Amino acid sequence: MSRVSPRTEPSVVHVAARLVATRPVGDFQYMTFAAPGVPDLARPGQFVGITVGGPTSGALLRRSFSLHAVSPAADRSEEDILDIVVAANGPGTQWLVAQDVGAVVDLVGPLGRAFPLPRERVACVLVGGGYGSAPLFWLASALRDRGCRVELVLGGASWERLFGADKAERYADGVTITTDDGSRGHQGRVTDVLGDVIDGSGASVVYACGPMGMLEAVTSVAADHGAVAQVAVEESMACGVGVCMTCVMPVRGSDGVTRMVRSCVEGPVFRGDRIRWDAFEQGWCRVPDDTLGAPIVPAAPVGAGDRPARASAPVEADAPEQAASAESGPDASDEGAQ
Ligand SMILES: Cc1cc2nc3c(=O)[nH]c(=O)nc-3n(C[C@H](O)[C@H](O)[C@H](O)COP(=O)(O)OP(=O)(O)OC[C@H]3O[C@@H](n4cnc5c(N)ncnc54)[C@H](O)[C@@H]3O)c2cc1C
Ligand code: FES
Repeated sequence: MSRVSPRTEPSVVHVAARLVATRPVGDFQYMTFAAPGVPDLARPGQFVGITVGGPTSGALLRRSFSLHAVSPAADRSEEDILDIVVAANGPGTQWLVAQDVGAVVDLVGPLGRAFPLPRERVACVLVGGGYGSAPLFWLASALRDRGCRVELVLGGASWERLFGADKAERYADGVTITTDDGSRGHQGRVTDVLGDVIDGSGASVVYACGPMGMLEAVTSVAADHGAVAQVAVEESMACGVGVCMTCVMPVRGSDGVTRMVRSCVEGPVFRGDRIRWDAFEQGWCRVPDDTLGAPIVPAAPVGAGDRPARASAPVEADAPEQAASAESGPDASDEGAQ
């Protein structure tokens, strides 16, 4: 096991992880790895980066996967275990789900910021879409350990694209299932039922993980019903460790200023009402004109005397500005304290 940063106490480790179990669950693959050192460091909402394709692969970038569960070794006779839930989308994930027990992969984790937990024993609603439900079960356990009431709302396009519906009742005080095609639970989307669940439980915090469109809608419904949304985003990532700026997205800080922040290190969990949803369109994210550091271009020919305007083109924001904006906790939460 080697440390990623030798200058500080390790919060991330880089390990050879061995696949100890793998099985299909609906359209997903439930994969269990022995990953020394990761479980002790990890918290709900964090993710791991896994190298795909084998030693001679041209797929250089690690793929990101939310941690579904961790189980630290109780003693030397046991191994540190972590579970992930994988949807085979492209070549990297297809390769991963095809691995047999005993396969060894290069894994870095835990990465990113965890879901902030409330200080008070408030009711919480946890909303998952597809494999986005995976990190919510561990979060539910952490919240209930704190005395919080937990409602789970799980959705998917069909029952095969639902994750965790069969075990949800063990983790929550109330469970609501939705599918787009009506093959399980209520026909429709998670946001169709969310308002009633918030009202019925008196929840003040909504946690969500799933596609960006769902997260935007969840944020809106939560606000309409008096709750704060904490959402785990899934921006495309390359390095996963804060170096390459691939994953930047516009987030408004507590000072009201929008900055491009790295979702792999300042996220993936953000307050939903701080994300500039207006910048996302058809899977792409532009830089809003009022973003700090957005490029300034002349609005009129030189000499016309007009003030410069800002262009809607991707830019790299300065790292110090991003660090200053690393603020995602809800007003009623103490981030990370468990
Ligand atoms: C924080 C985070 C947590 C995630 N958790 C899970 C999970 O628990 N289970 C799961 O199945 N998938 C998860 N994903 C999505 C998963 O990382 C992508 O589906 C996967 O990287 C696709 O790789 P590929 O080679 O199969 O596809 P390709 O499309 O060939 O991937 C090419 C590149 O695009 C990136 N990429 C492609 N699709 C996505 C996507 N949807 N999101 C982010 N990056 C993408 C890849 O990292 C890679 O660099 C998560 C993504 C992020 C950012
Ligand atoms: S993925 Fe490289 S900085 Fe976030």
